[in-house]
Amino acid sequence: MVILVTGGAGYIGSHTIVELLIRNYSVVSIDNFSNSCEKVYERIEMITGKKPIYFSFDLNNENKLDDICKKYKITACIHFAAFKSVSESIKEPLKYYSNNINTTINILKCLKNNNINTFIFSSSCTVYKIGHNAIDESVERGTNLTNPYAKTKYFCEEIIKDYCNINENFNGIILRYFNPIGAHPTGMIGEDPKGEPSNLMPYITQVLCGKRNKLSIFGNNYNTRDGTCIRDFIHVVDLANAHIKALEYNKSNIFNVGTGNGTTVMELVDCVKTVSKQDIPYKIIERRNGDIPIAFCDNKKILNILKWKPIFSIEDACRDSIVWQLNNPNGY
Ligand code: WQD
Repeated sequence: MVILVTGGAGYIGSHTIVELLIRNYSVVSIDNFSNSCEKVYERIEMITGKKPIYFSFDLNNENKLDDICKKYKITACIHFAAFKSVSESIKEPLKYYSNNINTTINILKCLKNNNINTFIFSSSCTVYKIGHNAIDESVERGTNLTNPYAKTKYFCEEIIKDYCNINENFNGIILRYFNPIGAHPTGMIGEDPKGEPSNLMPYITQVLCGKRNKLSIFGNNYNTRDGTCIRDFIHVVDLANAHIKALEYNKSNIFNVGTGNGTTVMELVDCVKTVSKQDIPYKIIERRNGDIPIAFCDNKKILNILKWKPIFSIEDACRDSIVWQLNNPNGY
């Protein structure tokens, strides 16, 4: 099989390409490096001994997309490419709506033109209605979403579902990620956000390596066990392997991808302190606009149907994030 991976130079895309290559899938990656770095492909080759074929262009270029599908005889697509910051999407909604939705539509049109019928979509737990503990796939979606990022994921899911409904041979698999953290255990690839990180773990590890002075914790007055938000932090390699299982399953369906456990922001900070044996200076500041108090999943469906299960612990993820950051203080 030849797998087209969009956003393949990104955090989750790069870890998924590693898992694809070590299982002898052929990979063609497209990434415009808007939030990633070309050097990641060299690192992937150092880990796997194989370098994916890759191109860098905007996924709105439908002709180039079509040419690649034809030339490389693509058989399936995993679509990661999207802007993903909750906070940034509030400040720049049009950037998020135009990029995240248009690229998904373009890819579906290209797959249709080339009779490619396996499509795995990177979605998000942010599509769910706020206020549910242990979120399962039946929880209401799309209402009272707190940010444009979440709405783009919800709209894309609806587009994919409508397309699947009129194309019975097309298998659209939606994976709703919770909070990816960690890095490849080799320390060769990891999370490398451009500029100031908006996500928690890269900010913590940049404080740890001295790149940032202090972590700001956005509120400790939530109705949780220690007042900070609760998230389902899943190791990025576990998340990558969920894509392999989805590829092998190859039927339209929707799955949460998470550990099923909730960890508070403070507990994650403490875990990094314990694993690194270093202090993490922090200050509590006001809540961040768009944050939801609690988000962790019920992962019974993916456990039972895809026979996937997370194998890395929170401690493993902290260790791997620390090794990645200390080995690469300035990223790639
Ligand atoms: C986590 C918690 C912050 C930074 C992510 C992805 C999104 C989607 C859902 C997949 C929150 C707190 C953070 C900081 C902090 N995943 N925090 N100080 O907002 O849950 O969204 O998961 O699609 O793509 O971005 O993740 O890491 O930004 O925040 O206190 O400097 O950490 O308030 O409670 P979030 P996050």
